[in-house]
Amino acid sequence: MNLSIQLAPKNRTGLHLANPVMTASGTFGYGTEYSHLFDIQRLGAIVCKGTTFKPRDGNPQPRLMETPSGMLNSIGLQNIGVKALIKEKAPVWAEWRVPVIVNIAGETVDEYAALAKKLDGVPGISGLEVNISCPNISAGGAEFGVHPESAAHVTASVRANTSLPVLVKLTPNTGEIARVATAVAKAGADAISLINTVRGMAIDVFTRQAMLGNRTGGLSGPAIKPIALAMVYEVVEAVEIPVIGCGGIASGTDAIEFIMAGASAVQVGTASFINPRAPLDVLEGIEQFMAREGIEDISELVGAAQR
Ligand SMILES: Cc1cc2nc3c(=O)[nH]c(=O)nc-3n(C[C@H](O)[C@H](O)[C@H](O)COP(=O)(O)O)c2cc1C
Repeated sequence: MNLSIQLAPKNRTGLHLANPVMTASGTFGYGTEYSHLFDIQRLGAIVCKGTTFKPRDGNPQPRLMETPSGMLNSIGLQNIGVKALIKEKAPVWAEWRVPVIVNIAGETVDEYAALAKKLDGVPGISGLEVNISCPNISAGGAEFGVHPESAAHVTASVRANTSLPVLVKLTPNTGEIARVATAVAKAGADAISLINTVRGMAIDVFTRQAMLGNRTGGLSGPAIKPIALAMVYEVVEAVEIPVIGCGGIASGTDAIEFIMAGASAVQVGTASFINPRAPLDVLEGIEQFMAREGIEDISELVGAAQR
């Protein structure tokens, strides 16, 4: 049975995964936190926590809450910063078989460019995932990923500063996701991942206050799966580069749905909070499905539900 995939066919080094199951940024730490719970080397790839140039403390508490079929978070990119990541985390990753992709976030285009430059050529890092669901400080705080122009601008600046494979992660909080996808593909993305969290809110009716310290946050988990699936389906039709599906995936059949919508790989996020082994369970679920259906190669399933 062949589950291997190539996520960056146009890149010099490429991004070869032994299987299509990745972890979603911000839900699996730096991978190191999970290595004693199961054999994380069996996964296709690990995407680490969102990384900014300087360390960040994140948003005020409370920052996490459960909703029916999902979770709201407003972590606000708490992280150790790129310097500590290179010094403390990358040397550990360099010893691993599983590729590690660094998720990067910035407040300006220059910050994304500086991050890309700093991470280029660091042993242990196999690719970058560019989180464009961040407020663009120089444009009044709208997310970079909302408009094709700003999304392409960030992508081009990252592309110009690294030889690593570049994945661009799209936000669902836009009315024109296919146009954003086309723009980032044209600007040099090797692959596209989607979706990030869906903007949401909850209010405590007794205190008459927003439940999250930041007032609004991002919704994830099973509640967003149908939204993510429809967006993946739409983006796959719009671009020629590989697409990675994410949003509410908790089982092998969830993953197969995304693959049939046209995704070459999948990311498991919130499910890891309920079951830390979820990414491995998803992988084993895919393998069982393929065995049962007599599928020899995962590529036979990619886009099976496309028109
Ligand atoms: C607590 C938490 C932190 C997250 N942090 C990041 C992040 O730093 N960068 C990023 O691109 N996405 C981040 N995400 C979004 C996830 O990677 C993923 O896109 C989203 O949660 C949808 O997938 P899921 O429903 O499987 O969780 C975060 C999500 C959660 C729940």
